[in-house]
Amino acid sequence: MSTSTFFCGITPNSSTSTFKNLLSFPHPTKIQPNSSKPSVFHQTRFNPVTASTPTSLESPPKSSFRDKPPKDINVLVVGSTGYIGNFVVKELVNRGFNVIAVCREKSGIRGKNSKEDTLNKLNGANVCFSDVTQLEILEKSIENLGVSIDVVVSCLASRSGGVKDSWKIDYEATKNSLLAGKSFGSKHFVLLSAICVQKPLLEFQRAKLKFEAELVEEAEKDESFSYSIVRPTAFFKSLGGQVELVKDGKPYVMFGDGKLCACKPISEPDLASFIADCVLKPDMVNKILPIGGPGKALTPLEQGEMLFKLAGKKPNFIKVPIEIMDFVIGVLDFLVKVFPSLEDAAEFGKIGRYYAAESMLVYDPETKEYSDEGTPSYGKDTLEDFFRKVLEEGMAGQELGEQTIF
Ligand SMILES: NC(=O)c1ccc[n+]([C@@H]2O[C@H](COP(=O)([O-])OP(=O)(O)OC[C@H]3O[C@@H](n4cnc5c(N)ncnc54)[C@H](OP(=O)(O)O)[C@@H]3O)[C@@H](O)[C@H]2O)c1
Repeated sequence: MSTSTFFCGITPNSSTSTFKNLLSFPHPTKIQPNSSKPSVFHQTRFNPVTASTPTSLESPPKSSFRDKPPKDINVLVVGSTGYIGNFVVKELVNRGFNVIAVCREKSGIRGKNSKEDTLNKLNGANVCFSDVTQLEILEKSIENLGVSIDVVVSCLASRSGGVKDSWKIDYEATKNSLLAGKSFGSKHFVLLSAICVQKPLLEFQRAKLKFEAELVEEAEKDESFSYSIVRPTAFFKSLGGQVELVKDGKPYVMFGDGKLCACKPISEPDLASFIADCVLKPDMVNKILPIGGPGKALTPLEQGEMLFKLAGKKPNFIKVPIEIMDFVIGVLDFLVKVFPSLEDAAEFGKIGRYYAAESMLVYDPETKEYSDEGTPSYGKDTLEDFFRKVLEEGMAGQELGEQTIF
């Protein structure tokens, strides 16, 4: 169903792109922060479906948003243009929610997507161009929409994993989304976090944990507010980097004996479905939810063996001692003291080391062990199917972030 049919009562003959352009907000600099008047667009487009406008929040409805049909539930998605966020928007739209996707005018890795590309990718959602890094602008953008928000879903993440950017996005921008959502009535926050925050050694993990703690605190203070924190294991994109190399007859490179780390990879559609479940399912409320894909956990050695078999090649592994990474990190840590500008380079080294040695499974801090059985599974897409697809079609759509680490 297109947005225009259920959101504003616009006839199905209206051009989707024209309609979406109407829903798209001008660049934040064009927003008039002091304007107290709602825009014409606000009055004519959104009011027919609005369950309650911001002003009606003074007397909030007695019933929960969970009692409403999905078409009347306004879900604000931040990080909507990311690898997972894009699928989350699609899944929520398919389930009939009223989705407001917040994004930048230049989105995607290194801002490669234009406004028009973004509108096409987020087909079915109401696209709101804004700036999640600036609370005032974000709030103004939501105010201009003239709707209340029921649920915020955050798939925000630093695109680089650098130290400052992690704090700016994984903590500050995510916090802005919580605050802005709450200002407009949001009663539930679904956070896409990561399973690796259980053992935090990296800045982005510390930033995520700080936000998680504040989110939990918010729900403890306000009993009408709830959260679901989703901590997935590895994504397919993070495991597909060697598929085309193996196909071309190159060896598969792994650290140690190839058994240092294991994960239960989950596909983008399966994870998006799990996240969408969090919007309404009462048993997912006020919980931290570690989640992996179907099947047992796989080590890099097992992933490599699977890949050689699928590619019809003789197994050929290169085993790199993990100590090499420790040496590089040691050198970078020393250099940072002299050249602070190398801070991010040192952090990327640590991120690489972390993923080479730590499993993406539920961790028991007492036994200091990761558990395959203790990591819940969800969905149906397997890594084997993914490898088969990449062998046939390549890695399009599975590009890693700006530093090509994750
Ligand atoms: N890779 C893995 O295996 C793995 C495993 C478990 C958990 N995770 C976690 O999953 C989460 C999402 O990952 P992902 O791969 O979907 O992320 P992603 O593709 O890098 O997407 C990040 C999203 O955040 C937005 N964003 C980043 N910087 C921004 C800024 N300055 N202003 C506005 N928006 C900004 C991006 O918008 P633009 O498109 O405008 O840049 C994009 O929508 C991360 O927290 C990650 O730690 C990853």
